Amino acid sequence: MTDFAAPRGMRDFYPEDFRAREALFDAWRATARRWGFEGYDAPVVETMELLERKAGEEISEQIYAFEDKCGRRLALRPELTPSLARMIIARQGALTFPLKWTAIAQCFRYERMTRGRKREHFQWNLDIVGEESVMAEAEVIGAAVGALRALGLTSEHFKVRVGSRALLAALFAHSGLAAEHFPACCLALDKRGKISDEEVGALLAKEGLPADAVARVFDLIGLHTLEQVEATLSDGDADDPAQRAIGDLRELFDLARQLGFADFLTFDLGVIRGLGYYTGIVFEAFDTAGNLRAIFGGGRYDSLLSSLGGQKMPCVGLGFGDVVVMELLADCGRMPKTARTVDFAVGYMDGASRALALKIAALLREAGRSVDLALADEKPRKFFNRADKGGAVRAILVGANEAQTGRFTVKTMAGGEQAEATLETVAALL
Ligand code: HAM
Repeated sequence: MTDFAAPRGMRDFYPEDFRAREALFDAWRATARRWGFEGYDAPVVETMELLERKAGEEISEQIYAFEDKCGRRLALRPELTPSLARMIIARQGALTFPLKWTAIAQCFRYERMTRGRKREHFQWNLDIVGEESVMAEAEVIGAAVGALRALGLTSEHFKVRVGSRALLAALFAHSGLAAEHFPACCLALDKRGKISDEEVGALLAKEGLPADAVARVFDLIGLHTLEQVEATLSDGDADDPAQRAIGDLRELFDLARQLGFADFLTFDLGVIRGLGYYTGIVFEAFDTAGNLRAIFGGGRYDSLLSSLGGQKMPCVGLGFGDVVVMELLADCGRMPKTARTVDFAVGYMDGASRALALKIAALLREAGRSVDLALADEKPRKFFNRADKGGAVRAILVGANEAQTGRFTVKTMAGGEQAEATLETVAALL
């Protein structure tokens, strides 16, 4: 072997990277707890049957698929949502709804590598299953915003753009665009920003949209406020799908105001999402500097369970990857501070003093303290250097004298203060 790099797009986590990843995971887990979500997990390997969907979605082309030794068609999951749906359907009669579930899932996609896109990433998922009201959207978006705030970011750093596929579909209908074009149009429109508008237009034309309809579609997704959207509609009753979708959006913005995260939301009908299963409100968070890909994205998907053979049930959720947020934190000077630390370094100067050092280490560990115990004897200079580098808060070095008297010195590394202790008193010193 001559190349010791991980396979292209896959990631090694050396300890300093691992500490940063853990700080992010801690923020995700703590936030999920604060918002009342329950943890769950599923296998990284799923059947192709579950993951396969109609052509057109980018994700379908990116699946790492393989056969096991019995010829089963399996794959590394590109996302967690199909697994969640499978787990819910398997116990749909027994689970209590609505439920709020969270997971951190490693996902694999054979992507073209760009900034913020790897072939393997960890994705924090938040999903609410069994709730029709917009409270579900408010809670998942509020939690994701809460995690970014816990990481030190503000509304100056990122915004959540909120759109609605339901509203877009209704506007398409009002403009006389046939409903059959809608799913393919969504997938084409989601490519905006990644490919030129001309190319998106060409994709729409390929879908059979006449040139004037393509122009109308671009006008629609360029609308910036709900008022502008309303102005394009003739007065409909409240049951009109467009009015209902507008009502939902207004309610979400109002709930965000009451819950304290309205500053982070903006309306953007151009947010479409690249996955076919979304049916209602959709959203994506972006850095305000406009340098990065989406930080998180999600939406309402009320038909996924039924399309997989379960009972129809309303669902809302999001996925929040670890790659983009780390780049944003680095760009904003907010990388979590993650120096290595250990409560005690314990060392010994020779074989004869090792026994006492081992006793001290065992006692401290028993008391719940973390201890980096020397693996071999060391001269003081080397020991204290190593203790310092290893982030030890206190250090104890045992020599012949200490071994004989049973009295040793506990040194605080930061200030240099020293306190004398014995096996009987060391725990009390903490
Ligand atoms: P998604 O937009 O495909 O949605 O992915 C969600 C997030 O995962 C993205 O915003 C990004 O942070 C991260 N992500 C996705 N692909 C990559 C990649 N190749 N490299 C780095 N990060 C990536 C979903 O996956 C939906 N299943 C989310 C969801 C959950 N919807 C409802 N519930």
